Amino acid sequence: MGRLAYVNGRYVPHAQAMVHVEDRGYQFADGVYEVVPVIDGVLVDEEPHLDRLGYSLGELKIAWPVTRPVLRLILRELVAKNGLQRGLVYFQVTRGVAPRDHKFPATAKSALVITTKRMPAPSEAVLRDGVPVSSQPDLRWPRRDIKSISLLPNILAKQAAFEAKAFEAWLVDAAGVVSEGSSTNAWIVKDGAVITAPRTHDILGGITRLSLLDLARNTGIKLVERSFTLAEALAADEAFLTSSSAFVLPVTSIDGKKIGTGKPGSVTQQLRAIYLDNVTRQIKAAS
Ligand code: PDD
Repeated sequence: MGRLAYVNGRYVPHAQAMVHVEDRGYQFADGVYEVVPVIDGVLVDEEPHLDRLGYSLGELKIAWPVTRPVLRLILRELVAKNGLQRGLVYFQVTRGVAPRDHKFPATAKSALVITTKRMPAPSEAVLRDGVPVSSQPDLRWPRRDIKSISLLPNILAKQAAFEAKAFEAWLVDAAGVVSEGSSTNAWIVKDGAVITAPRTHDILGGITRLSLLDLARNTGIKLVERSFTLAEALAADEAFLTSSSAFVLPVTSIDGKKIGTGKPGSVTQQLRAIYLDNVTRQIKAAS
């Protein structure tokens, strides 16, 4: 049996998974989403992802499409039906289907779509060499803490980075501050201190970022939650990015300029190892 998707109460073949043309996600990007990593069939950090979904829904006054326990069941069911061992589960909730009108519909029911995707582990070359990033202007709205499906500035920045042969775009505001990546959080290491932007409305509060900060707190590594500029990033000893799909990935150049030695740094590698240990613990606990 081929891959299935979940669409508003039904498991359907992925290729035939469809929503109505007047789904407000389609017309207005009026919805939110989550991406949860799956390793050995286990949803990693599932609860913080569901917490963030609840936060995003609450900020936009969109109702949960199903209760949280039911959503947990459906996520598990789809991962199992698709035999997903390593990859991502994507779920999005929109304000539902209604005749096009900017104001909220009085009666629409929130729509829920879930898909899964296989994803291989990062290649040895990527882990050995790190990835290049490209700086791009941050053109987003001031509520980046909401995981909205409205991602036009993010995709334009990622495409520009791709065309510059970079793996990711680091988004920079008019003052030269790096907020985050187009789909990842941004970090630098300077003089032994690990620095990442604080959790405000200016960034998406990444779940990988949150977990990594929690895990690193017990290691004695100095953690600083403050903004940093592109100039600081270029002068950093190390840089890396985090996300549910990349976990902790070394960044070894920005705009073609080497960061530190131009190789993944030791603090970055230590943090990646700490994060992966935590994933292993979660898998053991679930089995
Ligand atoms: N992106 N910042 C932005 C703008 C993001 O879109 C993401 C996630 C992150 C990292 O968050 P987390 O650690 O919770 O994945 C930071 C997902 C993976 C995506 O859009 O595919």
